[in-house]
Amino acid sequence: MRIEEVASTTKAQRVATHTHIKGLGLQEDGTAVPMSAGFVGQEQAREACGVVVDMIRQKKMAGRALLLTGAPGTGKTALALGIAQELGTKVRIAGLRIKENKEVYEGEVTELTPEYTEGQGGSYGKVVSHVIIGLKTVKGAKQLKLDPTIYDSLQKEKVSPGDVIYIEASSGAVKRVGRCDAYATEFDLEAEEYVPLPKVCARMHKPRQCVAELVPGVLFVDEVHMLDIECFTYLNRALESALAPIVIFATNRGLCSIRGTDMVSPHGLPVDLLDRLVIIRTLPYTPQEMVQILALRAQVESIGIDEESLAFLGEVGDRTSLRHGVQLLTPSMMLARTNGRDEISRGDLDEVDSLFHDAKFSARLLAEQADKYIS
Ligand SMILES: Nc1ncnc2c1ncn2[C@@H]1O[C@H](COP(=O)(O)OP(=O)(O)OP(=O)(O)O)[C@@H](O)[C@H]1O
Ligand SMILES: [Mg+2]
Repeated sequence: MRIEEVASTTKAQRVATHTHIKGLGLQEDGTAVPMSAGFVGQEQAREACGVVVDMIRQKKMAGRALLLTGAPGTGKTALALGIAQELGTKVRIAGLRIKENKEVYEGEVTELTPEYTEGQGGSYGKVVSHVIIGLKTVKGAKQLKLDPTIYDSLQKEKVSPGDVIYIEASSGAVKRVGRCDAYATEFDLEAEEYVPLPKVCARMHKPRQCVAELVPGVLFVDEVHMLDIECFTYLNRALESALAPIVIFATNRGLCSIRGTDMVSPHGLPVDLLDRLVIIRTLPYTPQEMVQILALRAQVESIGIDEESLAFLGEVGDRTSLRHGVQLLTPSMMLARTNGRDEISRGDLDEVDSLFHDAKFSARLLAEQADKYIS
């Protein structure tokens, strides 16, 4: 017998923007550790998010919404992910099972009489106008006058007197449960299931299997200023429904117009929605914090970089944005490798910094040279 080893097909994990974020990095008492779980600084916002996590765990957050605000690259999306990681699989937010009671008529069929009317055009015969059905239970009997569509269902299920059936009141669906056991002795070649005469009267409620399973969870709407007034109207209502999810919004906008209107409002959100939110603000990073975050990113991306270069990249981040600083890591590493090195040096950064523009610089350039572009 030959046994072959199969090479693992699991690929190395892709390094994404927030791969280094593993949680909120809080202590038991809820205070933030300056550098923990991939998070650097931003202590106040992390602690506030920790309170939100506790509220969600204790199911005290439903119908409330949280808004993360702050400048671009200050960790709003990272915080939302941190919250998600803290909640992990532990969060079972009111797994709501909606069990609907369906109204059914159940009993043994004692009578099954279609009633006809003359069809249009006479000679084409008769049309079933309704069907009279008698249902017997231990408690008594009932006669029902049913729609012709139910007659079709009865025929499909091959219902005949002596069968126990139930008819769903709302949909008219017919189910043949079996043959009433009063006929168990009758000669029958076919395998037949005999069922007892239903106990209660024909009209009863029968619990239906789970019709829908609603598990309201945490809904994260990043860049919420991109939503328009119609979405906000919907969200406002949704937040007040009994099944409201926990909503986390994030935005980096200050005063701006609400999409789809010319109304100017804080964060581009209608004031009545703002009124329903608790707001957590993220603050800009100090150059040292930027350096720490950049070091973390270099580590997860397996990029070697010396202290001096890291400090310089911190300055670049401070001048431009943290994100831009992070983004320069990979091209700098490629440059270093091209030059036969395993570590980014200051020279690589200088070169890459001159090659790539950050958004602010580009915008300034556009403003200065507007006449050279098509607009
Ligand atoms: N305090 C922090 N510690 C560690 N990494 C951070 C921290 N803050 C931000 N980052 C990282 O920096 C990058 C930018 O942060 P993020 O995307 O969360 O910013 P943002 O506030 O959502 O910005 P935007 O408003 O542009 O969406 C991400 O890679 C993020 O993981
Ligand atoms: Mg973001």
